[in-house]
Amino acid sequence: MDKIIIEGKERLFGEISIGGMKNSALPILFSCLLIEGECIIENVPRVSDIFNTLEILKGLGAYAEFVDKNTVVINSKTATNIIKNQNLVSKMRASSYLMGTLLARFGYVSLNMPGGCNFGVRPIEQHLKGFNTLGAICSENNGKIEIKTRKRLKSQKITLDKISVGATINMVLASVLISGTTIIESCAIEPHIDDLICFLNKCGAKIIRKGRTVYIQGVKRLNGCKYKISPDMIEALTYICFAGICGGDVLLNNIEASHLKYCIEIFKNMGIKIDTYEKSLRANCESDIVGQNVVTAPYPLFPTDLHPQFSALLCYTINGGSVRDDVFPTRFAYVNELSKMGAKIKLIENTAIINKSHLIGAKLDATDLRAGAALVAAALGAEGISEINNVNYIVRGYENLVDKISSLGGKIKLLKGE
Ligand code: EPZ
Repeated sequence: MDKIIIEGKERLFGEISIGGMKNSALPILFSCLLIEGECIIENVPRVSDIFNTLEILKGLGAYAEFVDKNTVVINSKTATNIIKNQNLVSKMRASSYLMGTLLARFGYVSLNMPGGCNFGVRPIEQHLKGFNTLGAICSENNGKIEIKTRKRLKSQKITLDKISVGATINMVLASVLISGTTIIESCAIEPHIDDLICFLNKCGAKIIRKGRTVYIQGVKRLNGCKYKISPDMIEALTYICFAGICGGDVLLNNIEASHLKYCIEIFKNMGIKIDTYEKSLRANCESDIVGQNVVTAPYPLFPTDLHPQFSALLCYTINGGSVRDDVFPTRFAYVNELSKMGAKIKLIENTAIINKSHLIGAKLDATDLRAGAALVAAALGAEGISEINNVNYIVRGYENLVDKISSLGGKIKLLKGE
């Protein structure tokens, strides 16, 4: 198995480019199953979740390939609804988008329960409730989901009971070709939702979002187009945590500052100097940083996907702080790993309480994508050498992490497994 080796306490200087947003690219790539003709998707990150998605699409019979470093071409003309690589479906939460797309196109889909980062149960009852409202029949048994509709799906008003990124996306995918007007209430409004809406509208869809309500005027067909994925907000925020821990002066290019507003204010209150420009952001950290107490919530508030990395940052503040995760209350597997480094961190229900810590490098195990990023963050500021195992989790969502940190002066290397 590959390992990441880090020798901590190097300050970071220089500039890097932030990649396309994984959680935008995933629904957009799956949505190409609804589109007639060729789609050219730019700024797609080369991460394992994307490669798995291309394999799933090819397994359905579609053409789906990287045609240059970060551009993917998809043509789903020859696709069917027979999922050949169900093993990949079980590995990835984004596979759930096969439900909305294959139901809309073929009226039938059968798939393994979608997987995803293992930080607790990942229910899909909101997705199934929405499909039922549209007229489909959903059944689950032995870890398999089957969704079918005898007649055409009917436009309806869907009111989600919880703010859910995946359920919102699946309702858009299932409704975009249904004649009439479908209304979805209590939607998630993460930037990746707007990215999907923007892409589908460029393909000929008629979708409007007003606050947390999405209005879809169904169309008969969607045509291929060229589209550029928005910058990855979580990658950008993760690198600001790296800069806050290591100190130094880092310029992040290809960012969308409007997606980062809430967190930028928190970082500034901690003492990290942040300047934003047209498409870039500078993080300068030359002094001690002050801890904060944060609570995760749906966008535009504090993102759960920054929770583990932020806990690592709090270890390096003069007064500590806390992170309460109300979105994924069991997303704390990283706490044990940080404790191996000497972190003064304790867990009370779904809140991590962190005090100023003196971290020492250790042998660590990444337990999921963002927990892995938190271990990298902690190791960059720790005394001595850290070894991080289960790198496969980290490469799910961070393109060229080792090269990017190295280019900023971090002492990090990837040891390929035997
Ligand atoms: C997406 O997961 C992201 N994954 C997650 O990012 C992210 O943490 C999450 O949104 C929240 O922002 C992808 O985009 C591929 P949800 P998703 O449905 O759609 C509950 C990463 O690190 N819920 O918004 O699965 C759910 O349990 C990954 O990139 C139900 O109860 O998240 C959670 O408590 C990790 N029933 C809350 O809603 C449902 O039917 C939010 O989940 C659906 C969700």
